[in-house]
Amino acid sequence: MILESHVDPSSAEFRANAAYMSAYVAKVRGAENNQVETERAHGPRARAKGKLLPRERLARLLDRGAPFFEVASLAGYGMFDDSDGRFSGGKLIAGIGHIAGRRCLAVVWNYAIKGGTIDSVNVQKMLRLQEIAFRAKLPIVSLHESGGGNLDKSAAADPWAARLFVEAGRIYGQQARMSAAGIPQITVSHGNATAGGAYQVALSDVIVLVRGQTQLFLAGPPLLKAGTGEDADAETLGGAEMHASISGTGEYLAENDADAIRIAREVVASLPRDPDLADVKRDVEPPRYSPDELVGIYPEDRRRPVRIQEVLARVVDGSKFDEFRPVMDSATVCGMAAIGGTLVGVIGNNGPITPAGANKASQFIELCELTSVPLVFLQNTTGFLVGTTVEQAGQVKHSAKLVQHVANFRGPKLTVLVGNSYGAGNYAMASRALDPDFVVAWPSARQALMGGAQAAKVMQLVAEQKWAREGIEPDEKTRMGAAQQFQMIEFGLEMLSESMFCSARLMDDGIIDPRDTRRVLSYLLDVCLEGRRRTPVGSSHGIQRF
Ligand code: COA
Repeated sequence: MILESHVDPSSAEFRANAAYMSAYVAKVRGAENNQVETERAHGPRARAKGKLLPRERLARLLDRGAPFFEVASLAGYGMFDDSDGRFSGGKLIAGIGHIAGRRCLAVVWNYAIKGGTIDSVNVQKMLRLQEIAFRAKLPIVSLHESGGGNLDKSAAADPWAARLFVEAGRIYGQQARMSAAGIPQITVSHGNATAGGAYQVALSDVIVLVRGQTQLFLAGPPLLKAGTGEDADAETLGGAEMHASISGTGEYLAENDADAIRIAREVVASLPRDPDLADVKRDVEPPRYSPDELVGIYPEDRRRPVRIQEVLARVVDGSKFDEFRPVMDSATVCGMAAIGGTLVGVIGNNGPITPAGANKASQFIELCELTSVPLVFLQNTTGFLVGTTVEQAGQVKHSAKLVQHVANFRGPKLTVLVGNSYGAGNYAMASRALDPDFVVAWPSARQALMGGAQAAKVMQLVAEQKWAREGIEPDEKTRMGAAQQFQMIEFGLEMLSESMFCSARLMDDGIIDPRDTRRVLSYLLDVCLEGRRRTPVGSSHGIQRF
């Protein structure tokens, strides 16, 4: 069936939606630009040392003109000492792109922000990146340069500070496991790599050292002096030439940044070619409605419903959607479609999930599993419907069953948070909690336990019941104080569920411009399908250096 849109792009409503969405996209881009500006300001220092800036390194690493899907660009936005994105990104610029014709995960340490030091955001982002590489069996190419563990005042404000160092150890464990699984890790050591930073380099399968720049040691000169009193210069202690000729901690000795990246690309060129997907790809037909119109579909007002078919019509090939059990429960929408030539099962929402909707989606997932069709979730729900009728109809068991189906689905799962994503609906529609391969968010996405107004109302009822139980007749002052608190709950929850707030905390892999949804999904489907066809040759111990 060809989907029919009821949206009028010339209407005042469309224009108002587009203005809201465009402004939010501009806010996201502004924060990303502030990050780039911080890097640029570091330019003169980098050049004085003969170094390339992090993004200059990335540009040399990636194949020119090939797409790059950046992961979690806004990690840490508004956290600790960041207010407008200038210190965001978790000190990593990372994403999936092509290097020497192979799809890889590129990880560039942003040494221009706070020395590229390790904090909780950096650790979480690194762990997520490793998860992506592990799942899609993507080679990781890291351009490393980091001041190691963040020791300054912002670390003290980091609620993870105490357990950070143990948590960071997971990264090294994962590196060891990836090596044993045969997932290549190629690292250029561009500068400082102390302690944990040294492990990130040393646990790589191939290390490229840079003459006069690499400083790779468990303890650098200041730490050594503080710990043992020994005086040592960085070159003798952990310079590139020392490692290349004496310690044997590195395979290639490059002359400078550009030379090192050239070597890394050559190493990647020797890896097996990417799997061919020609046998699963169909003809690609553009949607009948322009994906550019996705900017005007979603309103700023959370309470206004949006038909998910309007999104689908602008995302799937030919706007064709083969809906599964369309006359049963229109609030949960399931059906087959193609995106960029790949057949997918789509599950979307037009409101709260009922027991019938949950059952329909569960059955649909079984069919997709049986036919090895990937799932795409379009989240647009205030959660599972509540009330006596649905409870008696078995809402708890049916919603639990949907969670089981989504969690245990073995094929690729991609999630787009387009709008509301509240309560258990967030889980059942494959939020980060249920481990989809990728989660991307629209600016209009909201993830929370419940809406702010509902939470405030719940707390108001709890307070009123308590007053009644204790026989208290609250005076005007008490009532006013309570009302203020309820308002704060509402405001707080709305703010904490907002798209940029959630993305900063890695609850998704990044906020996308709605207009890019089709391109992004198509790209990520290829990443997932290729990953399942890669057959890396592993070993029990991984690549060790002798
Ligand atoms: N913790 C917190 N901040 C650190 C840091 C650390 N471990 N290492 C560097 N920084 C910060 C600096 O304070 C500076 O911040 P600013 O941009 O706000 O001024 C920024 O990173 C750059 O450091 P700077 O020393 O000016 O740059 P550099 O290029 O001359 O030297 C290093 C970089 C990493 C070689 C040097 O800072 C260093 O030796 N740091 C200590 C490394 C270490 O022993 N770490 C052990 C951690 S377990």
